[in-house]
Amino acid sequence: MGARKIIIDTDPGQDDAVALLLALASPQELDLLGITCVAGNVPLDLTAKNARIVCEAAGKTDVPVYAGKKAPLNRPLVTAEHVHGQTGLDGPELWEPQMPLAAGNGVDFIIDTLRHETPGTVTLCTLGPLTNIAAAFNTAPDIIDRVQEIVMMGGAYFEVGNITPAAEFNIYVDPEAAEIIFRSGAPITVMPLDVTHKVLATKPRVAAIRALGSKAGHFTAEMLDFFERFDVEKYGSEGGPLHDPCVIAWLLKPELFSGRHVNVEIETQSDLTLGMTVADWWGVTDRQPNALFIGDADAEGFFKLLTERLARL
Ligand code: BDR
Ligand code: CA
Repeated sequence: MGARKIIIDTDPGQDDAVALLLALASPQELDLLGITCVAGNVPLDLTAKNARIVCEAAGKTDVPVYAGKKAPLNRPLVTAEHVHGQTGLDGPELWEPQMPLAAGNGVDFIIDTLRHETPGTVTLCTLGPLTNIAAAFNTAPDIIDRVQEIVMMGGAYFEVGNITPAAEFNIYVDPEAAEIIFRSGAPITVMPLDVTHKVLATKPRVAAIRALGSKAGHFTAEMLDFFERFDVEKYGSEGGPLHDPCVIAWLLKPELFSGRHVNVEIETQSDLTLGMTVADWWGVTDRQPNALFIGDADAEGFFKLLTERLARL
């Protein structure tokens, strides 16, 4: 079987960056057609810059990086510098990327790619707010049936929220976009906080990545040194959760994860619970399942995979 074609839609973000590195290190399994950037953790100019810095850190500059939407569909942007730092990628010493942005808009790239590739052969990996994907689906509804799968980091059930008491950041930033995706009928796999909070970059795990001695290893370790501080202070956990890399790890080794097919609806009306992912984990409604909602992961296996792949860069 050939490598699976993917587009990564992202708002780097240290954990997005690790997800990009994991994908860039895995060309045998993943054919990364392009990276589309969205506003989220930091504004679009920074996410589009950070994605190119990550490609350069990996020594993989032939992947096109597009800028997409600079604001949610119909709300002002909410950012997360308190988690990721002012650059979005605080930790390592950053540089001005040499790699240019690809010409054109990321939303058009998503539409054109899905129309051009064989139906059912392109997977969308979403690591940030779902604005770009929802905009593409709104503009070109014909592409929805052509998506192989959407694998997203977003939402929570047992862990409830991180940006508000009820909502996870990626869904909260653009709940209307998330609603469009969950109602689209496209196959969806979700990596919610329930699983990502189990995949912690503990000190020994980060030390193993640093010990690789490579540029990508150092870059990753320095990002994770910075990234852990927020969750360690907030949750008393042993390291930063590698939210977004779970999406890529799922494509590489799905046996590391387990979950349930459930119905997921998005709260878009309530001030109190805006962006909540109402997941019918216990099957108490007759609403049709629309997503595979992951709940557990083999964290040791995950870090073994990540470290082994980063060693290839
Ligand atoms: C998600 O929000 C961002 O801060 C992270 O990059 C991740 O995608 C976690 O809630
Ligand atoms: Ca992200």
